[in-house]
Amino acid sequence: MSKVLVTGGAGFIGSHVVEALLEGGDTVAILDDLSTGKKEWVHSKARFFEGSITDPKTVERVMEEVKPEIIHHLAAHKDVRVSVNQPAHDAAVNISGTLNLLATPQARELKQIVFASSAAVYGDTVEIPTPETASTKPQSPYGISKLTGEHYLRWFGALHKIPVAVLRFANVYGPRQDPYGEGGVVAVFTERLLRGKAPVIFGDGKQTRDFVFVGDVVAAMRVATQENSDGIFNIGTGKETSVNELAAQLAAITKSARKPTHTALGAGDPRRSVLDPTKARSDLGWRPTIPLANGLEETVAWFRSQSSQTTQN
Ligand SMILES: NC(=O)c1ccc[n+]([C@@H]2O[C@H](COP(=O)([O-])OP(=O)(O)OC[C@H]3O[C@@H](n4cnc5c(N)ncnc54)[C@H](O)[C@@H]3O)[C@@H](O)[C@H]2O)c1
Repeated sequence: MSKVLVTGGAGFIGSHVVEALLEGGDTVAILDDLSTGKKEWVHSKARFFEGSITDPKTVERVMEEVKPEIIHHLAAHKDVRVSVNQPAHDAAVNISGTLNLLATPQARELKQIVFASSAAVYGDTVEIPTPETASTKPQSPYGISKLTGEHYLRWFGALHKIPVAVLRFANVYGPRQDPYGEGGVVAVFTERLLRGKAPVIFGDGKQTRDFVFVGDVVAAMRVATQENSDGIFNIGTGKETSVNELAAQLAAITKSARKPTHTALGAGDPRRSVLDPTKARSDLGWRPTIPLANGLEETVAWFRSQSSQTTQN
C-alpha cells in the first residue's frame, strides 16, 4: 500500500489508473487542472487538488501536503495537431510542468515515478513494429516534448536513485475517452456513428495505428510500480490496424451503414505506427489481454450508456 499522486487523474487514462490504485488499497491524490479532464471522473475516495502543473507554487504545495511515494505522471497537453500550431504551450505543460514536479524538495523522496510517454517519440520510423531501441525522431512538438520529459526524468532518477518507468503508449482507447478532441480516433468515430453520422477519416485511411485498450494500459502502469521498474517500455499490442479497418469494425458494431468521408491529413501524423511490446512482456510480465474487437465492443457499449443517460436527463 503506497501514497500515490496521479497527475492528470481526472482524465481518460488517469481516472482509470486512480480507480485501480484505490481498489488495490493505495492512498491516492490527484493533481489536475480539468483542462481536458472532468470533475465527474474524479474518484470520491481520492484527494483532489485542482491546479496546474505549470504553476510551481501549486505543485510544491501539493507535493508537500501529499508526500507521495509514487507519482504516476499523466498530466499533459496531448493534442498533436494543436501542438503543431502552439508548440510553446505544449512545451510549457509537458516540459516545464514535468520540471516543476521534479524541482520540489519532496520529489527527491520518491520511491518510483511512472511516466505516460507516447509512441509519438519515434516519429515516422522504418522499424515496424517499433522496438524501444529504434531511433527517436518525433515529427511533432508533442512528440518532442514527451521525449524531452523522458530525458529529464531519466536524468533526475539517475541523480537521486529513483526508478523511473517510462511507458510509451500506443493509441489508447476505451470508456471515458473524449470524443471531441482530435486525438482519440476510436472515441471520435464511435460518437459520430452512434449519432448516425459518417466518420471523417484524415487522408486515405491506410495509415495504421496500434490500438491498446485502456484496461491493459492501467495494468502496465501498476505492474511497473510493483516491479520497481526502471527504463523504457513500449505499451502496445504489436498489431497494426488501418484507420479504414477501424472505421469498418466500428460501423459493424454500431450497425451503421454510413460510409466514411475523407479529409486532408494533418501535420505530424506518421504513416505507420505500431509498437513492439516484447520488452514489457519479458521484463514486466505485461502483455495486452483485450483483443481489439472486444475492446471496441466495450467502448461502444459505454458510449451508448452515456448517450442514453443524456437522453434520460
Ligand atoms: N490517449 C492516448 O492514446 C495516449 C497515447 C500516448 C500517451 N498518452 C499520454 O497519456 C496521458 C493521459 O492521456 P489521456 O488520453 O488520458 O488524456 P486526457 O486529456 O484525458 O488526460 C490528461 C489529463 O491531464 C490534465 N491536465 C492537462 N494539462 C494539465 C496541467 N497543466 N496541469 C494539471 N493537469 C493537466 C487534463 O485535465 C486531463 O485530466 C498523457 O500524458 C498523454 O500524453 C495518451
